[in-house]
Amino acid sequence: MSNMLGTPRHLMLVALVSSCLDRACSPPIGNLASGRTLFTLSNCCGNGTSQHPLCPQPSVSPQACSQDPHPVLHMTDDPFLHPDTWWASGGGRTMQEQQDEIRLDLETKFYLTHLVLVFKSPRPAAMAIERSVDFGKTWEAVKVFAYNCSVEFGLPDDFDQPGSPCTSRYTDAAPCTGGEVILRTLNPSSAMTLDPYSPEALSRLTITNLRVRLLKSQTFRTPPSSSENSASAPYAIYTLLARGTCLCHGHAEYCVPHNNGNKEIEDSNMVSVFGRCLCTHHTAGDHCDKCAPLYNDRPWRPANGSSGEANPCQKCECHGHAATCHFSQRAWLSSGRLSGGVCEDCQHNTAGRRCHRCRYGYHRRPSLPLSSPHTCTRKSHKGPWCHPRSGQCHCKSGVGGTSCSHCLPGYWGFGGEGCKPCACPHQCDPFTGQCLHSITLFLYTGKCSCKEKKLRSVSELCKTKHDYVIKANVLSAHDKGSHAEVHVKVRKVLRSGQVALRLGTANIYPLSWTSRGCTCPILNPGMEYLLAGKEEPGTGRLLVTMQSIVVPWTPRVGLIISNSLRNGCR
Ligand SMILES: *[C@@H]1O[C@H](CO)[C@@H](O)[C@H](O)[C@H]1NC(C)=O
Ligand SMILES: *[C@@H]1O[C@H](CO)[C@@H](O)[C@H](O)[C@H]1NC(C)=O
Ligand SMILES: *[C@@H]1O[C@H](CO)[C@@H](O)[C@H](O)[C@H]1NC(C)=O
Repeated sequence: MSNMLGTPRHLMLVALVSSCLDRACSPPIGNLASGRTLFTLSNCCGNGTSQHPLCPQPSVSPQACSQDPHPVLHMTDDPFLHPDTWWASGGGRTMQEQQDEIRLDLETKFYLTHLVLVFKSPRPAAMAIERSVDFGKTWEAVKVFAYNCSVEFGLPDDFDQPGSPCTSRYTDAAPCTGGEVILRTLNPSSAMTLDPYSPEALSRLTITNLRVRLLKSQTFRTPPSSSENSASAPYAIYTLLARGTCLCHGHAEYCVPHNNGNKEIEDSNMVSVFGRCLCTHHTAGDHCDKCAPLYNDRPWRPANGSSGEANPCQKCECHGHAATCHFSQRAWLSSGRLSGGVCEDCQHNTAGRRCHRCRYGYHRRPSLPLSSPHTCTRKSHKGPWCHPRSGQCHCKSGVGGTSCSHCLPGYWGFGGEGCKPCACPHQCDPFTGQCLHSITLFLYTGKCSCKEKKLRSVSELCKTKHDYVIKANVLSAHDKGSHAEVHVKVRKVLRSGQVALRLGTANIYPLSWTSRGCTCPILNPGMEYLLAGKEEPGTGRLLVTMQSIVVPWTPRVGLIISNSLRNGCR
């Protein structure tokens, strides 16, 4: 029973050429009631089935059931093999006792296209066909049938008012036997044009439960003067055919048993419509209603039944370094609705939305393709370590420049071991070590010609993720040989990084001094600035780089900044 997937029938089906190839596809339509248990008020026969909400407690006496010559099963047997079998409802003298209900509980959501009932008895004078899409919690009438709609239900007849939920069709007492009741869930005019995978069709065709309420038999239509034969069954049904299909949104052509095992299936060999889709088009889920884990580069869509377009899910480009991705609306919009996938849990020391760059502390090996699992390796300790974004390298002692290519001011003799400090208090020739006069020193450490970054908008401040944002007074600047230190008085902390900032004096470190021998952007002692920039990893030092924001503080700047920080960067 549990190994139904392995039966030859399924293997054979799966081996066939798929009709889903680049096209919308659908599983075959069959009778949803075949092989499933139908419940009626008159078949509450103990044996475990008494737990069903339809059955009153305690259940009907089992003896009466075991010898029932017309069990519910006879409604769903093959009408060609067993044309003369039917279900008969229990008899009763009052109208309430004569009411009955046939209920089909499905283990998951299905599409119901139409329902056909073939009566052995005369058709009911009043009945209702109802569906639930929430496993029986709430019900909705799909159609009600009455010989006289206004009397039974207070509704107009759809003969007079097309679209009314009530109809007098199929309610005539004639024929005495073999009368049909037919319900189409889509009316024939829209069935031709409506895309079966559209939200509208979905809301009209989906069911988890179906019930047919037999409300009034023909014997009660005429006043109960001729009530002699009312002891016999008021309703008898040859066939109940609930035509429908597994719900797959156009992304599957085969379905297999649903895992929801707590709903018993009478006989799996008899089931013609199973509930779990075998998804194609890179979709997933019991109903192919989401994208497969690595295929979330654009939003899931149902197939288009009108045009036949498959609308498959699109694979995320993770360069072979991730097994899953999620969809980001933001990435989607910023790419112009081309790609919204964000790779999750990048492996092999990769990082980024597409696992396309190396993790912090690792570097690309240009000789290997990006998809290689060895494309990112830990930086060897021999060469300089360089910041992956700024490109600034950490050099040997006395060495400077973004690529550690020359001696810092105050050092000389560039070589494998770095640079040696000058033997004089100020500056020496970087090649010979000969001490220089103060005039040359002045020229060497002259002001940089800086391209100052202007703060054009709040969004610009937000775009770059600054570790710290402060308002500070510059007190003094100091040459420390290998680096420069600027003393500031912090007046306001708008954001701090790993190291919590406090009001009062602090040091900031202009990196440009190390690489270029001057301070850039310019920090003038005595001025008050808005400062925003990065922390040095590890030490938490506040760095000032060419990417930092250094803007003289004005009340207007203050207002803009505090507003944007309060509202959060978006
Ligand atoms: C129902 O009960 C009868 C009598 O107790 C028993 O013989 C039969 O096996 C039971 N059927 C099921 C399906 O449990
Ligand atoms: C339904 O019953 C009402 C009240 O008895 C009557 O006026 C009406 O003509 C009936 N309609 C039909 C279609 O028989
Ligand atoms: C499906 O295809 C038809 C015909 O090409 C088109 O008019 C319709 O908009 C499509 N539906 C969706 C939801 O894109």
